[in-house]
Amino acid sequence: MAMAGLAVQIYNAGGFCRVVSTKPMPGTQWIRALTNVGCRVEVCIENKTILSVEDIISLIGSQCDGVIGQLTEDWGETLFAALKKAGGHAYSNMAVGYNNVDVEAATRHGIAVGNTPGVLTETTAELAAALTLSAARRVVEADDFMRAGKYEGWLPSLFVGNLLKGQTLGIIGAGRIGTAYARMMIEGFKMNVIYYDLFQSTRLENFVTAYGEFLKTQGEAPVYWQRATSPEEVLKEADVISLHPILDKTTYHLINKERLSLMKKGAVLVNASRGPVIDETALVEHLKANPMFRAGLDVFEDEPFMKPGLAELPNVVVVPHIASASKWTREGMATLAALNVAGKVKGYPVWSNPNNIAPFLDEQSQPPAACPSIVNAKALGLTVSDGSAQQKL
Ligand code: GLV
Repeated sequence: MAMAGLAVQIYNAGGFCRVVSTKPMPGTQWIRALTNVGCRVEVCIENKTILSVEDIISLIGSQCDGVIGQLTEDWGETLFAALKKAGGHAYSNMAVGYNNVDVEAATRHGIAVGNTPGVLTETTAELAAALTLSAARRVVEADDFMRAGKYEGWLPSLFVGNLLKGQTLGIIGAGRIGTAYARMMIEGFKMNVIYYDLFQSTRLENFVTAYGEFLKTQGEAPVYWQRATSPEEVLKEADVISLHPILDKTTYHLINKERLSLMKKGAVLVNASRGPVIDETALVEHLKANPMFRAGLDVFEDEPFMKPGLAELPNVVVVPHIASASKWTREGMATLAALNVAGKVKGYPVWSNPNNIAPFLDEQSQPPAACPSIVNAKALGLTVSDGSAQQKL
């Protein structure tokens, strides 16, 4: 049916409220999460990668209780006003990051904004690790070389890259994903870690200390941690630097020309956070001037585009924003986004611990009667629940 001019697929047509998803999402658990609580679900199946604000306004139509949207969409004043006018009170990004959402505008319109923490952590960290290895060991360059039929035999200096073992890992942003990535690199490659974060990561520090002690019991060299007082300290000292901050005014172009110049000539820089954290034009220049410097990028400043020159450089590995793209994670993200909207439609409280979302993902049992993660819960004065006691934020 094409209610709004864009093609949509409808589930539970007779539902008591109307929820729109701007994209088909993986799995079916998310659809059941909504239809089980009586929602009619309309999924936009239009063959258009990124929907415009006008497209989404037409999908919202004159009556809409909630929307599940994507990080490529511009959820600002215009869309929240349209959703409010249509009687809506819930929006969820199918993403943990929500820099595409003007949360203040949503709050002004009394609309809850959901996100999907917890399910992306390991998957995203694994992709950052994959980019690190690909860049350090020149996997993509070597693959291109093979496919081009250029391999004439083993040579002592063919595609020589960087050894990771015992090197220093730099983490900027040691939250859930940064810490998971650090653990992978420390356990896997026995790297020492230097991190910068506004908050102390005792979890990471304690892990590295305990793991170092364990290595000693195996007769191996221990690993060490260090908390830096500035991003510059990390950039100067580390051999591999991975970026895991949120994108906001303070992290926009965190990595710029000056900071790139502080890094070791043969360092590896990985970004699976948000593109604008790096000044990509400055990175292109730096990669050109320093052929031993390598980068692994999942995200770009002007997605879906790359800054001129980037694609031609051999010392960068580029993938199209796929860090969260494992089946389990993408299905889990869809389920959490749907439960955020379903919970708000039902008037459920907000789950108190977004770090423990496992009860929402178990297909064998009913999800808790709560919204898994609402980022403006406090501003909206929503009630919080941990499944037993409830409290007001
Ligand atoms: C992906 O980039 C996300 O923020 O979920």
